[in-house]
Amino acid sequence: MFQQKFFGKILVKRKINVILIKGMKVLKRLLKKYSLFYSESFSNFGTVGAIAPSSNSLAKAVVNPIVRRTKAPIAVLEVGPGTGAFTSQILRELQEGDTFDIYELNPKFYQYLKKYIDLESIIAKKISCKLYNADIRHLNKSKKYDFIISGLPFNNFDSKTVDEILSVLMNQLTPNGIFTYFEYCLTNEFKGTFLKSLERERMLMVGLTIETFLKKYQFHSTKVWWNLPPAKIHYCKKNL
Ligand SMILES: C[S@@+](CC[C@H](N)C(=O)[O-])C[C@H]1O[C@@H](n2cnc3c(N)ncnc32)[C@H](O)[C@@H]1O
Repeated sequence: MFQQKFFGKILVKRKINVILIKGMKVLKRLLKKYSLFYSESFSNFGTVGAIAPSSNSLAKAVVNPIVRRTKAPIAVLEVGPGTGAFTSQILRELQEGDTFDIYELNPKFYQYLKKYIDLESIIAKKISCKLYNADIRHLNKSKKYDFIISGLPFNNFDSKTVDEILSVLMNQLTPNGIFTYFEYCLTNEFKGTFLKSLERERMLMVGLTIETFLKKYQFHSTKVWWNLPPAKIHYCKKNL
C-alpha cells in the first residue's frame, strides 16, 4: 500500500515535469517566432509588410482549396512563408507522393523555417519538400503546381514587381490549379489618407494592376476578421 502510494506520487511528479518541459519548449518557440517576426518586420517592412504573423483562422481559409483535393498526388508552391503560419497548415493536408516547394526571400525566416519545419511529418508522409532562400521571380520554371499559396505583401511592392510576380505564378499554375493570396482590409483607404503623393500614386498603380488581375482570374473571395489586421482572401483560377 505504502509502496503503491510512493511510486504513484513519483509518476505524477514525472508527468508534471514532462508537461512543464513541453510547455516551456512551446513558449520558447512562440517567443522566438514573434520576436523574429517583429524584428524582421521592423527592419524590412517593404518585403515583410505585416505587423504580426497570420492567425490560424486566416491560415485555414487560405489553405482551404487544398482541403478539397482529390486523392491523386498534388504539387504545392508556397511563396513568402515568413515564420510558417501557412506552411504548417499546408503540411497537415499533404499526403504520400505530394511535392511541396517553398520560396522565402528573407535569410532569417529561411533559417527559422529550416530549423522548425515539421520534418517528422514530411518524412512520415513521404512528401518531397524543398525550401529555397530565393526571390520567387527566380522560380524554377520547369515545374507546374496544382495549388499556389502566397503570403506576399503585394500592396508594398511597385506595380511592375506585382505584375511580374503574378505572371510568374499564373504561368506555373496547372490548367485547373488554384492560386490563393490575401491582403489586409482597408489598406488602400487607410494609406490613401495619410500618404505623400508619390506613395499614393504607387498604391494607385498597384491597385489598378491587382484589379485587372482579379477581373481576369478571381472566382471567389472571403474576409477573415479574426486576424491582425483583418484580411481579404482572393481565390484565383487560370480558366474561369
Ligand atoms: C506578410 S509576410 C507573410 C508571412 C506569413 N505567410 C504569414 O502569413 O504569417 C511576407 C513574406 O514574403 C516574403 N517575401 C517578400 N518578397 C518576396 C519574394 N520576392 N520572394 C519570396 N518571398 C518574398 C517576406 O520575406 C515575408 O516573409
